Amino acid sequence: MRILGVGTATLDIVNTVEGYPAEDSEVRALDQRISLGGNAANTLVVLRQLGHECAWAGTVADDSDSRYIRSDLKRHGIAMDHAVACRGGRTPTSHISLNRQNGSRTIIHFRNLSEYSFEDFSRVELAAFDWVHFEGRNVPCLKSMMRRVEATGDIRCSLEIEKARDGIEALFPMASLLLFSRDYALRQGFENGGSLLSAVRDSGGVNAVMTCSWGAEGAWGLDGSGKPLQTRAPKVPQVRDTLGAGDAFNAAVIHGMLSNIALPALLDGACRLAARKVGQVGFGGLGNE
Ligand code: FRU
Repeated sequence: MRILGVGTATLDIVNTVEGYPAEDSEVRALDQRISLGGNAANTLVVLRQLGHECAWAGTVADDSDSRYIRSDLKRHGIAMDHAVACRGGRTPTSHISLNRQNGSRTIIHFRNLSEYSFEDFSRVELAAFDWVHFEGRNVPCLKSMMRRVEATGDIRCSLEIEKARDGIEALFPMASLLLFSRDYALRQGFENGGSLLSAVRDSGGVNAVMTCSWGAEGAWGLDGSGKPLQTRAPKVPQVRDTLGAGDAFNAAVIHGMLSNIALPALLDGACRLAARKVGQVGFGGLGNE
């Protein structure tokens, strides 16, 4: 299927460290990798491996660091025709400490770049896509973008809700799939993904399939057929790299929806793919079971 991902692409500088450093200390990194990152970009990298045609829509800076982003997107076979180059501003960067003991990742993110606008999005020929995936940021613009997708009547869209952002709830009725994070659920005062999903359903007007990933404990899902369902994550012998695990999970859920897989099997497949992701470094080889 043909998928457009709207969101960020970042430059990730990942230093593997023996343990998380103390403040005001100096430590040697065991390894360093520099790669494409950003939630929407990561999700597309996985969707591409799952056999979909992917395009990314977002902004890129005109500085020298943006070459990594352009070349990695190209290497992964993700089209950039709808990306917009911005004058001024800087490539968004994440300096990430990846703890070798437990795979935890600590991110320092820097961003000073214009957001992708509705005007940019209005130039995209939507008929070229079966599905549009939105990263939940820049809410006022997303509203118009999602309305535009809704108006096509046949293109479905997903919305990732990783962080609590002002007014994001107003977007929920326009999505076919809502992908919540544990962080969002906890910040809204819910103890588990199931109670968040029930509350969103009870708020009215939301017909989307919904998921909420819950790290090592698995994930929750809710479709039109009733009560939230919890799927346990498989045990991972050694957690090596949790960076982008949620993005990989989201890719597997979108893939499941596009393949008409029923919710229990879809959640199970997404938890298994996320478990494989955290058991290895980076996003390579996630397409082959
Ligand atoms: C992982 C990630 C990284 C990026 C950061 C941006 O989910 O997308 O690749 O640097 O989050 O917030």
